[in-house]
Amino acid sequence: MKLDLSADELLRTTRAVRQRLDLSRPVEPEVIKACIELALQAPSGSNNQNWHFVVVTEADRRQQLGDLYRKGFATYCQLARTGQAVAMRGTAPREREAILKFQASSRYLLEHIHEVPVLIVPCIEDRVDGEAVVEQANAWGSILPATWSFMLAARERGLGTCLTTLHLYHEREAAQVLGLPYERIMQVALIPLAYSRGTTFRQAPRHPVEGVIHWENW
Ligand SMILES: Cc1cc2nc3c(=O)[nH]c(=O)nc-3n(C[C@H](O)[C@H](O)[C@H](O)COP(=O)(O)O)c2cc1C
Repeated sequence: MKLDLSADELLRTTRAVRQRLDLSRPVEPEVIKACIELALQAPSGSNNQNWHFVVVTEADRRQQLGDLYRKGFATYCQLARTGQAVAMRGTAPREREAILKFQASSRYLLEHIHEVPVLIVPCIEDRVDGEAVVEQANAWGSILPATWSFMLAARERGLGTCLTTLHLYHEREAAQVLGLPYERIMQVALIPLAYSRGTTFRQAPRHPVEGVIHWENW
């Protein structure tokens, strides 16, 4: 089933879906494959196409990834409280606590991620830990556009997704769970995938475009 959303509608309404993931409905392998096939139309540096998508449906493996996600959340909280998490560096201690309270939807995913029928781990060949920004940009830029295309293709088929990264605090352990060679393959996200309960999503409130657009120079 396709929703036949216009391109603008699709871009406007592809949200982080957590509480509306249908945990009881399986996702057909052919639907997952169709979304990944579309994702492969995305750009990659030098057209390298060094991308991989690990699709996890086995309950035991999902449980292990879910445990690593929760462990990653605990690590994040610890680093954030002490201002060590990059995203929190410029945030005052009192504000940090407020941010760490997290919304109900994030909590929900934290508690239920292992119950989501499919977990997808997009990966890119070669690690860029500690490399120059240009190398980082090339690597991340060669997998995240494809990952977002996958999420858009999923939305068009009535599926919900949410890009998450918390398990990467324990990426090496996740590599063992997934049986992939950590030294050669870098995981970039963990995406829960399930049919959404209802397919109507709203445009999200965002900062006004005037604050982010810089005509000609900064
Ligand atoms: C790089 C990145 C990392 C993220 N990591 C997580 C995560 O670990 N857990 C989570 O629940 N959401 C995560 N998110 C989802 C964001 O919270 C979400 O995209 C944002 O709140 C906007 O949601 P909306 O489009 O529904 O408004 C991440 C998003 C991005 C782009």
